Parts: sequence; C-alpha cells; structure tokens
Amino acid sequence: MRLILLGPPGAGKGTQAQRIVEKHGIPQLSTGDMLRAAVAAETEVGKLAKAVMDAGKLVSDDIVIAIVSERIDQPDCANGFILDGFPRTLVQADATEAMLKAKGLDLSVVIELKVNDKELVRRVSGRYSCAQCGSVYHDTDRKPAVEGVCDKCGSTHFKRRPDDNAETMTQRLEVYYKETAPLIGYYYAKGKLKTVDGMAEVDTVTSEIEGILSGL
Ligand code: AP5
Ligand code: ZN
Repeated sequence: MRLILLGPPGAGKGTQAQRIVEKHGIPQLSTGDMLRAAVAAETEVGKLAKAVMDAGKLVSDDIVIAIVSERIDQPDCANGFILDGFPRTLVQADATEAMLKAKGLDLSVVIELKVNDKELVRRVSGRYSCAQCGSVYHDTDRKPAVEGVCDKCGSTHFKRRPDDNAETMTQRLEVYYKETAPLIGYYYAKGKLKTVDGMAEVDTVTSEIEGILSGL
C-alpha cells in the first residue's frame, strides 16, 4: 500500500500517519520530520532548510525529491509507505509519479484531510510532541492521559516547533493554497483522490481512513 496524506498544516496528517503505521506496519515518510532531523544534525541540507522552514516557506523541490527518492529505496519501504507532507508542489507530484513508475509501482490512494483555517491555527498553536518518540499532543484537547508523561513511551520531555506560531502559520497557509492545493485537482483527475472530513474527532477520522484503506 502506497498512500499520500494531503492537507494543510495542522490538518492531522502526522497524527493519522502514526495510526496507520501502528495498524498496517508500513513506514511514515514525513519530509517535515526528515528536514527537522537534518536541521538538528546540522547537515548541509539542514543548514539550507532551517531559515526556509522557520519562515514557513517551502524547501526547494530538488532537495526534498532527492530525500524522498533515497528514502523509498530503503528495505522497510518494500511493502509500502505513507507519504506525509510530500508531494507539496506539482513538480514534486510529477517526480513522485516518475519515481514510482521507474520501480514498476503504482500509487494506491491520495487521502485529503479537509479542515478550515480557524481550526488549523488553533491546532498548530497548541501543538507539542514527545521529544523521544515524536507522539503528537495538543495543549487543550489532545493531552497525554497523565499530564506531562508521554502515553506511548513514558518520556517526560516534550518540544514545540519553531514554525508553530501565528505569524509563520499565516505564511504556511498561503503557501499551501498557492503551491499544494492544486494537487487536489491533479489527483482527482487521476482517479486517486479520496476526501475525508478532517474537522471530525481524531478517532472518527481514523475510521474514515480505515474504511478507504480496506476498500483498496
Ligand atoms: P511539515 O512538518 O510537513 O508540516 P505541515 O505540513 O505544515 O504539517 P503539520 O506537521 O504542521 O501538520 P499535520 O497535518 O501533520 O498535523 P498534526 O497531526 O501534527 O512541514 C514543515 C516545513 O518543512 C514546511 O513548512 C516546509 O518548510 C518544509 N517541508 C516539508 N515538506 C516539504 C516538501 N515536500 N517540500 C518543501 N518543503 C517541505 O496535528 C496538528 C495538531 O492538531 C496536533 O496538536 C494534534 O494533536 C491536533 N489534531 C490532529 N487531528 C485532530 C483532530 N481530528 N481534532 C482535533 N485535534 C487534532
Ligand atoms: Zn513518547
């Protein structure tokens, strides 16, 4: 199963991807996570990406395409993968198609999570995650069962992203509508698009996605 989770910042792509990983045992390929790891490791790519990410703009197509192309060649991607946050431009979408075609593979489905801007800003401004395992939480409505302790790994260390502030979020939304939203029509025309109401409860969104995946 090779699927793309498509949606604006804060739509719940990472949250749902983690659940698909747990249920289906295929890896989550988040270009955002990969770039943040490169920034933390101060690699050449990380140095180039940091300022762009902090400003809420897109890292260049060449860089992210190279990262994904290398990642999907890893053995754990043999049975499928979830693309989270990639592709994000029409150039990246064409590159994805070319990458898969070169391997004789096909895309199973593109799941679009639809959420309105007000809710996106609310979600992103309250988001934090476990510094150890990456589990995602929210200040008001997605707290760990025991405050300050990660549900999944028991860590007590959490972090926030530098781009999760109102000003950068405005820029990220602008970029989404200009560069990424055209992919909705692109995949609709290819008969690959399924749209899910991302405003619903996390568990409801998960059930909707599972319904789509079980019908593949
Ligand atoms: P990236 O890391 O991909 O961020 P993003 O697309 O902006 O998406 P987010 O991670 O912010 O949101 P999400 O949809 O995963 O939501 P989440 O599940 O966390 O990209 C960051 C940057 O990297 C980009 O700006 C760019 O610079 C660069 N980059 C990355 N990929 C690139 C590419 N392909 N090309 C070029 N540049 C690239 O949920 C958000 C919050 O809401 C959480 O607190 C969660 O608990 C809560 N929540 C989730 N679902 C629900 C729900 N149903 N109800 C209530 N709360 C919910
Ligand atoms: Zn954890």
